Amino acid sequence: MNASPLQPAQPQDAPAQALYGGVTNRRVTVRDLAKAKRQGERWAMLTAYDALTAGVFDEAGIPVLLVGDSAGNCHLGYETTVPVTMDQMVMLSAAVVRGTRRALVVADLPFGSYQESPAQAMHNAARLMKEAGVQAVKLEGGERSARTIELLVEAGIPVMAHIGLTPQSVHAFGGYPVQGRGDEAAHQLLRDAKAVQQAGAFAVVLEAVPAELAAQVTEHSAIPTVGIGGGNGTDAQVLVWTDFAGMTAGRVPKFVKQYANLRATLAQAATAFAADVRDGSFPGPEHSFE
Ligand code: KIV
Repeated sequence: MNASPLQPAQPQDAPAQALYGGVTNRRVTVRDLAKAKRQGERWAMLTAYDALTAGVFDEAGIPVLLVGDSAGNCHLGYETTVPVTMDQMVMLSAAVVRGTRRALVVADLPFGSYQESPAQAMHNAARLMKEAGVQAVKLEGGERSARTIELLVEAGIPVMAHIGLTPQSVHAFGGYPVQGRGDEAAHQLLRDAKAVQQAGAFAVVLEAVPAELAAQVTEHSAIPTVGIGGGNGTDAQVLVWTDFAGMTAGRVPKFVKQYANLRATLAQAATAFAADVRDGSFPGPEHSFE
């Protein structure tokens, strides 16, 4: 039987590099990530909020892109993620899906879009899948969100959980403190990780927790753990793209490694353009029509 052009036949146990460019004619799936966990393969996730940037990361081979509600403070000019709306998430997520071919695209359910009732969570997760075309959603909370995760998963929606420092609770935390310090908090994190796994989450983000605790969670977890400020012992790592590329103004968190300095590069380009316009050297004859 011929393989469908949309669903090319895949060997049951494709080689481990499948996440990073081994398979170019289909999107990475949650099954690929489960296999990566079994094989001990580490993977990278970046946030993306628009088609152009998402396309660059997709071509670079980043297997999972997160349309994070960090769009609030990294893209839309808010101070926190709290004001981000469903309509904004749908618009940004649709752009990221349009800009990509390989990456698994995960979209955040923003604050207030899933806590009210299971019906509300289902309605909004379905919007992200139907209107934006994402392949999975992410929501914050461990034990407190387990029932919601279970319902979404039962409905066929892949869910990435997010525990530890959950930025939508910034006002309850009084900032962005490291989580899981001390015996009681560490035990709560372990319970949260267990609860989301039992509820059916396909992966769990661990944000701002001590490295040793994140490694312990990872060791006991059957699903991939995705660290951000969780040290080197998690299965995957995620960074906010504006942080990792040096676009963010001012201080970035301790856990960020800056791989480029795009802010300075863009500022230099803008300054040079303005100077060329002022002194009349742009446009030159090579940029003009006869
Ligand atoms: O919104 C976001 O970008 C996130 C990451 C920090 C994991 O949730």
